[in-house]
Amino acid sequence: MRTPGPLAGSARAAGVQLPIIPTVAGWLAQTPGAISLGQGVAYYGPPPEAMRVVGRFLSTPGSHPYQPDAGIPELRKAFEEKLRAENGIDAPFERRILVTAGANQAFVNAILAICDPGDEVILLTPYYFNHEMAISLASCRAVCVPTDENHQPPLDAIGAAVSPRTRAIVTVSPNNPTGVVYSREALSAINRLCALRGIYHISDEAYEYFTYDGAEHFSPGSLGGDDHTISIYSLSKAYGMASWRVGFLVAPEHLFDDLIKIQDTVIVCAPAVSQAVALEALRAGRGYCWKHLEAIAAVRRKILERLSGEPELLSVPASQGAFYFFAGVRTGMDDLTLTERLVREHKVAVIPGGTFGITRGCCLRIAYGSLSMETAVEGVDRLIRGLRAILRG
Ligand SMILES: Cc1ncc(COP(=O)(O)O)c(C=O)c1O
Repeated sequence: MRTPGPLAGSARAAGVQLPIIPTVAGWLAQTPGAISLGQGVAYYGPPPEAMRVVGRFLSTPGSHPYQPDAGIPELRKAFEEKLRAENGIDAPFERRILVTAGANQAFVNAILAICDPGDEVILLTPYYFNHEMAISLASCRAVCVPTDENHQPPLDAIGAAVSPRTRAIVTVSPNNPTGVVYSREALSAINRLCALRGIYHISDEAYEYFTYDGAEHFSPGSLGGDDHTISIYSLSKAYGMASWRVGFLVAPEHLFDDLIKIQDTVIVCAPAVSQAVALEALRAGRGYCWKHLEAIAAVRRKILERLSGEPELLSVPASQGAFYFFAGVRTGMDDLTLTERLVREHKVAVIPGGTFGITRGCCLRIAYGSLSMETAVEGVDRLIRGLRAILRG
């Protein structure tokens, strides 16, 4: 029996890193006129025709009770068709597709469905921080394998990290935070390794439409490893629907009943109004995202041009996806201090590499998806001026 004393939260939650993004947002809020190169969202909102569904939703009597746990069947069916047409994944929705409140919830559901406390999940560093947090919250251990100097997956090191406790390898392509797109060959090799070692491959494809310079997105779920591949998608970026909270989980059939138990406990169903909007957004299709991509690509080129002109300050490994650059800064200063000084003294915010599990060297994530050309140029110029002043001053 516990002796009475001051109440505390669980050790499990206490052991999880606090997200840095709200801290940076706090510094931004205290710095009028600061520009954020920190925000991981696209600049546009949902398709206008999808928004019009909201009025209809409100006046339809059957809209307000709980909806099916796995999502409304029309939406799941539409997603099944999308997966077949675009991703080469053949996944009948009835027992393979689940609508979640965003890709983050899809990941949490997946981890709870496949891991027991003490199990290990392999992440590639720099990782997407919410993946690491979800693994810790499930009382599991994230085994971090550093990517190579180009932020590509190091296949031998990944293989060597697999232990008897490993349950899954996670890949994110196009990647947050590096923007790197993994090749078909690398993703196929990881998927094969998972099959061989009897573990799952969790493939986060939240940025599938965001590729540049001819880079192509590849879905490992198309390789036919239906019993060990879990694919995750999001409408947050592609359709500018981050606050609506809609994502998808495509899972092996044998996990479906357990996933439903988790879904029913956590959320019952993704918000029904958001599902109605998502269905209409899927009808607009990937062309909606591509229509906006040229503007993001132009901002990307301009930022890259400016960052590449400063090799004494920083290096930016080549990347062709998402809307991030992950810059290595040539300094011994720690990334959090540097970030705070950049905001407070130079009015520009980035996200420090420590957020993504980088413990050696000073790295910064620079996000450009939400910015107009003018703001992006001013932001990156402040960043360069700030780095010059702080590092050389
Ligand atoms: C790789 C990755 N996965 C998932 C998410 C979360 O997406 P959602 O808004 O659908 O939960 C993000 C958001 O930044 C992300 O970068």
